[in-house]
Amino acid sequence: MDAPESLSSRLLHWYDAHARVMPWRVGPRDRASGIRPDPYRVWLSEVMLQQTTVAAVKDYFHRFTARWPTVIALAAAEDAQVMGEWAGLGYYARARNLLKCARTVVEDHGGRFPTTREGLLTLPGVGPYTASAIAAIAYDQPATVVDGNVERVIARLCRVEAPLPAAKPELTALAASLTPTQRPGDYAQAIMDLGATICTPRSPACGLCPWSPACRARVAGVQADLPRKTPKPEKPTRRGTLWLGHRDGEILLERRPDRGLLGGMLGIPGDGWDGQGGPAPADADWQDIGEVRHTFTHFHLILAVHVARLDTSPSRGEFIPRDQFRPADLPTVMRKAWDLARHQVRVLPATSTQD
Ligand code: ADE
Repeated sequence: MDAPESLSSRLLHWYDAHARVMPWRVGPRDRASGIRPDPYRVWLSEVMLQQTTVAAVKDYFHRFTARWPTVIALAAAEDAQVMGEWAGLGYYARARNLLKCARTVVEDHGGRFPTTREGLLTLPGVGPYTASAIAAIAYDQPATVVDGNVERVIARLCRVEAPLPAAKPELTALAASLTPTQRPGDYAQAIMDLGATICTPRSPACGLCPWSPACRARVAGVQADLPRKTPKPEKPTRRGTLWLGHRDGEILLERRPDRGLLGGMLGIPGDGWDGQGGPAPADADWQDIGEVRHTFTHFHLILAVHVARLDTSPSRGEFIPRDQFRPADLPTVMRKAWDLARHQVRVLPATSTQD
């Protein structure tokens, strides 16, 4: 194996020419001139990027930072507004932790993020990956950042044949042994960029890779087969029902409990597919208008969508006037149901420009 210093300097040289431009990033040229990233923006981007692509995150990042430019502003936001802006990014526990974390930074740390990995790890929702990413990117400390891209790059470079997830500790140790003390923030972003643009899952562009001559998997011709993965068990399918009630231009919605699936989000009342909910919220002439499908981390979901005009008081939820309802505030599975209803049921008047 080549010396770590030689590998990191080759990667940094590549990054100087090929760094991706991202709204939260201070590129290598600006960083060399002394510009430092805002820890708030680094933290926000890293939380958004967990399980979501860079392309999907960019618009959300712009909207969040325009509305809440500092952690102090975010900490003062109303929960429902943050949940609404987060809708569509998925994994809603992250949005709740986001707010919790912002408030902790303001209440316990005077509005400044802790400046060490250990300090960052004490914040709600900040695990080893995020703490390392902030320590490296915002504070230029030699913390080792290991996400899926980095695992793939290291598994190939060092030809680790053991399958994931069991190989994680070995890959993390190898990644740590390569992390330089010179420009660790740029290095962390460089290795992530290498994994995202060159050392891609299916057909890596080895001809363009600064680590190609040193890459053990490439020498053996097995780069596209690594990292190996232990097959995951099949996801089960759950079924359920959504009850979309309306009356005189108002829609019956409910705020979901803070805990559990889609916690804290606005939703259409359901029948217990999520361990919550219950029977239809009112006696009515419910029409079955079709079904929507959505896949969560641990299961597939098929929901029958029932629509009715409500003439009696519902047992739960509250009526929201159509012009105060933004479909974008709903989590994706609920928005699919709304879209289905909106196109099939003409009695729901469309008055807003936002649907
Ligand atoms: N993926 C997650 N965080 C990233 C970052 N800071 N740069 C590039 N890709 C990333």
